[in-house]
Amino acid sequence: MWRCAADWLSATGWRFATTAAHGAARQQQHHVGPQKKLGLKDVQHIVAITSAKGGVGKSTTAVNVAVAMATRLGLRVGLLDADIHGPSIPTLMNLKGKPALDKAGSQALMLPKENYRVKTMSFGFFLEHSLITS
Ligand SMILES: Nc1ncnc2c1ncn2[C@@H]1O[C@H](COP(=O)(O)OP(=O)(O)O)[C@@H](O)[C@H]1O
Ligand SMILES: [Mg+2]
Repeated sequence: MWRCAADWLSATGWRFATTAAHGAARQQQHHVGPQKKLGLKDVQHIVAITSAKGGVGKSTTAVNVAVAMATRLGLRVGLLDADIHGPSIPTLMNLKGKPALDKAGSQALMLPKENYRVKTMSFGFFLEHSLITS
């Protein structure tokens, strides 16, 4: 499915608009030193995977698109799972536990967890007894 997601991204032509970011992202991945904290306004492109129905494959698609963008295209990718009813992203991304806090600044910030080169934040990290799989 990762190959399908990468092919789909290429077919959209959208990728070409991100060529500069692609290069910058590759460089920054190897940057050593204090990292600038980025907010949502600094996110160059947002891809929303949505539907008005549950159980149709949103989470599966979102994970595969995100991982394909990170691993195949070398982009810096964040995955935000705002599903409060059935957050399955921690399961799909093989992540668990609460996020660590960065207390360096004036207010504590939650640090996203990372796997498959995708930084991930999910409501599922805050559920005590999460057995959600879909
Ligand atoms: N392309 C697909 N083909 C077959 N089953 C799929 C596909 N995508 C997702 N599924 C399965 O469908 C179920 C719901 O997928 P999920 O991504 O959790 O949906 P949603 O996030 O929309 O609720 C899961 O059991 C998942 O493994
Ligand atoms: Mg889901």
